[in-house]
Amino acid sequence: MIGRKIIELENINSTNDYIKAHFKELDDGTIVVAKRQWAGRGRSNHQWKSELGNLYFSFIIKKKIVRDELFMFTVLSSMAVINLLKNYKINAVIKYPNDILVNNKKICGILTESSGSKEIDHVVIGIGINVNQEDFQELNSLAVSIKQITKQDYQVKQILKDFIQEYNLLEETSYLKGFNAYLKASLIIGKKIIFEGMKYEISGIKENGEIIIKNEKHQKAIILNSINIKELS
Ligand code: BTN
Repeated sequence: MIGRKIIELENINSTNDYIKAHFKELDDGTIVVAKRQWAGRGRSNHQWKSELGNLYFSFIIKKKIVRDELFMFTVLSSMAVINLLKNYKINAVIKYPNDILVNNKKICGILTESSGSKEIDHVVIGIGINVNQEDFQELNSLAVSIKQITKQDYQVKQILKDFIQEYNLLEETSYLKGFNAYLKASLIIGKKIIFEGMKYEISGIKENGEIIIKNEKHQKAIILNSINIKELS
């Protein structure tokens, strides 16, 4: 269960970094939310610009897991976002592994970070949801907010509440159900991809997060950090 304790901050470098710096004193499931971040991070060391009006938060899961189980948090978090958006009548899809898109534009990004290489004792999941932003400047063709879609303003706190509710609901339900919903919402299944110079079709995603690609000659399970949407057809 997440969200029993919520730490609210005005401005911080990054909510993921805050949790990583304080993880010893934070209880399992604690959420850290900030109105702004001055060094918000995305995957692959990208910057996550974090201006006022959107939702920036992270939570900590403190339990011993093995690397193969990490993907579960991506699935639960992605589906919690997909489900909360549905309640605002927004149909979103997942671009593997954990970008949430609406009409090919990113509405939410998820950054999962963990300790250790084999045995992991805590995981930090950081989520940025574009809520009220109206202009993404140079990223206008790539990003979108809930407000841009529904033409309404939102209380950022309410969106966090929605996320907590959806996440906890999914956590209580059978994982397989959530995983199947993740597969259904995934944009990449059935798409063509070039991998190591060869053409493949993406035929599935394994529970540990590897994607299954196949062509006439080979079938492989591979981990991709991110897929450039242009690589897919
Ligand atoms: C991505 O799409 O590359 C992941 C973006 C993750 C952004 C969130 S905002 C809250 C948390 N704090 C960070 O510095 N990053 C994550």
